[in-house]
Amino acid sequence: MPCTVLAGGFWGDEGKGKILSYLALKDKLDFCVRTGSVNAAHTIWHEGKRYALHMVPGGFVYPKCRLLLAPGSNVHVAQFNKEVEETQVHKRVAIDGQASIIEEKHSDQDKTSAHLKGLGTTGWGVGPAIEERTRRTAKLARDIPELRSYVTDVSTEINQALDQNRQVLLEGTQGLLLSLYHGTYPYVTARDTSASAICSEAGVGPTRVNQVIVVLKSFITRVGTGPLPGEMTREEANKRGWFEKAAGTGRDRRSAPFNMELAKKATVINSATQIALTKLDCLYPESKGTRTCEELSKQAKQFIKDVEKQTQTPVTLVGTGPDALDIIDRRK
Ligand code: IMP
Ligand code: MG
Repeated sequence: MPCTVLAGGFWGDEGKGKILSYLALKDKLDFCVRTGSVNAAHTIWHEGKRYALHMVPGGFVYPKCRLLLAPGSNVHVAQFNKEVEETQVHKRVAIDGQASIIEEKHSDQDKTSAHLKGLGTTGWGVGPAIEERTRRTAKLARDIPELRSYVTDVSTEINQALDQNRQVLLEGTQGLLLSLYHGTYPYVTARDTSASAICSEAGVGPTRVNQVIVVLKSFITRVGTGPLPGEMTREEANKRGWFEKAAGTGRDRRSAPFNMELAKKATVINSATQIALTKLDCLYPESKGTRTCEELSKQAKQFIKDVEKQTQTPVTLVGTGPDALDIIDRRK
């Protein structure tokens, strides 16, 4: 499956980083293309170390994978440099010249805007940076001397790679319900987060995509304000082992049970061909670290079956722990 899109199905933080790292290693990805901006953190456990990546594509765990930042992405130069250092990917990472730049002033504007504060933004400044981009006054990666050695033409690289049948993964950020178009407006982020938008940001047309994997967590979390059906108290979330803190901002995440209607919406709007269901071990603790379906309890198997039936989409990957390899791979 040369071209795969990975998209979040809820409000972000579904565990895309973990699925990404597994696919990079298992499918030997040739290219991983990150979309979006610095507000989203992808958590990846690799060789015993935890990474919370805001800029470098999650495919970095596979040493032969080329790492690209999409033309539609929005680059924070200092954070990019820091992560390139941390992951030691200087020789295989590149940025499209058309990617826009997010600056300190955008973060200041984000943090001092009462309106944006009310939405519970991450404070990185992505909304103001995208405003500037649409006003057509933004700086682009090609204007920044410090980035000169990294600048490339991402859409040409990946379309040529697809001509050669190489493995390309388009890495979405956040989730469908934070989409500017399909989410819980105005409590959303500054971009569309759906699979189509991921393709558009990268510069790949819809007919080139072979697989769309939507990542759904076995319970739901949300940071920032806005509706969350079935929201539970922090005490209840703690009791169930569903309380989390945001990888990027350290904020408390709000929690709620899995929601089938939202799962259906996510698979429909993303045209999912597969579902990756993460953190099954938080719902069924006995499944922790399990790597085959046969070992799952009857209840856990039934949950997977229900998701498949309701969404009409196969659950191909099931996460059972934080390590990249804590996964049940049900693909052929
Ligand atoms: P912004 O994207 O920083 O403008 O924040 C807008 C909304 O999206 C807020 O509710 C944020 O908490 C949420 N948000 C942005 N990025 C992420 C993410 O990566 N994970 C979860 N929520 C996010
Ligand atoms: Mg995250």
